[in-house]
Amino acid sequence: MRKLVLIAGGALLIYVVIVLAIAVIPAIELSRVPPGPGVVDLTPLQAEGRRVFAANGCAYCHTQQVRPLDEDRAFGRPSAPGDFAFQTPELLGSERTGPDLSNVGVRKGSDVWQYIHLYQPRALVPESIMPDFKFLFRVMAKAPAGETAIPVPAPFAPANGVVVPTPEAKALVAYLLSLKQSSIPGYEATGPVAAAAPAAAPPAAGASAAAVAAYVFDPAQGQALFTSNCAACHQASGEGVPGAFPPLKGNAAVLDADPTLHLGTILQGAHGKTIGGATYGSAMPPFASQLSDREIADIANHERTAWGNSARPVTPAEVATLRAKAPGAGK
Ligand code: HEC
Ligand code: HEC
Repeated sequence: MRKLVLIAGGALLIYVVIVLAIAVIPAIELSRVPPGPGVVDLTPLQAEGRRVFAANGCAYCHTQQVRPLDEDRAFGRPSAPGDFAFQTPELLGSERTGPDLSNVGVRKGSDVWQYIHLYQPRALVPESIMPDFKFLFRVMAKAPAGETAIPVPAPFAPANGVVVPTPEAKALVAYLLSLKQSSIPGYEATGPVAAAAPAAAPPAAGASAAAVAAYVFDPAQGQALFTSNCAACHQASGEGVPGAFPPLKGNAAVLDADPTLHLGTILQGAHGKTIGGATYGSAMPPFASQLSDREIADIANHERTAWGNSARPVTPAEVATLRAKAPGAGK
């Protein structure tokens, strides 16, 4: 009997020590990490959206933790402990079936995009394997006063009536749009971006000009960058989504020999313009902090030469000049 008590008691003690060491103590320590610069608490609506996110198992496919790896660069800067100050319990996730969502409010900063995508992911991303969440929407004969119908592309829209988000969908989208990484001074520089920068002596004044002069547009690179950053809204065909995202095929800003509006839109985003006679309900997100001058030139040149468009090519130097004039210059 005494032996039994010793074995059971000993096992219990080891168990308690391990739980304290790997779960309880780290959790207490992490809960004392102060919020990172610019990290703010969720509004009640966003907090409700976080609950909808958890309840629908979004975290089974989506992480919210960017690793300091090259393959995670597209998702934002590496996550820092201060990012999670108001996210308890953290929805870190482990399966990376879909993209990391830590910074998705910047990448897909459009409520219209988020609504259409939740209603039917394949309406915007044809190859998507994300399940649809139609049960977060209602189909009604017409949108009630004060509500706006979602511009679901025709092949995916219900045969009769319009699609209107439920309160759960509105809260969820408010939460998704709140997922924006704040910038931590000097922190971005610790990521692989800086590691990839030339370590040799700083280039002489003439050298960078030579590098710029050496820029040659690589259509494959331009297309790849457009696919990963822009096609979800403007579509691979450049035709956009009627009522939601403007076509870039035949777009006046893209075809203009003066690239100020074209490049400025990519750097700073846009909202409320009349484009080809139509207006759009949501905004085009700014890309200044996410793409380098060269990447923006590649994307712009893809747009200027694809889908029958034909406009003079632009250079990274032109992007740099416009970026220098703009607030929040970024990369
Ligand atoms: C079965 C896995 C799976 C589940 C569950 C899932 N997603 Fe996704 N999600 C994906 C995949 C794959 C993509 C990439 C293709 C696309 O954009 O549709 C994606 C893309 C996204 C994007 C766009 C990310 C970006 O960077 O472009 C958002 C936002 C998103 N999902 C939100 C959600 C929300 C909110 C839920 C829960 C209501 C959810 N997802 C559930 C797999 C999933
Ligand atoms: C989340 C959806 C979304 C993404 C992603 C997006 N755009 Fe846009 N884009 C829009 C919307 C919405 C507008 C219309 C803005 C307005 O109403 O002023 C727009 C407008 C534009 C215009 C037209 C400007 C004009 O005045 O005619 C260009 C050019 C453009 N986007 C290029 C891009 C490029 C390049 C990318 C990728 C780097 C991109 N967009 C990514 C939604 C998006």
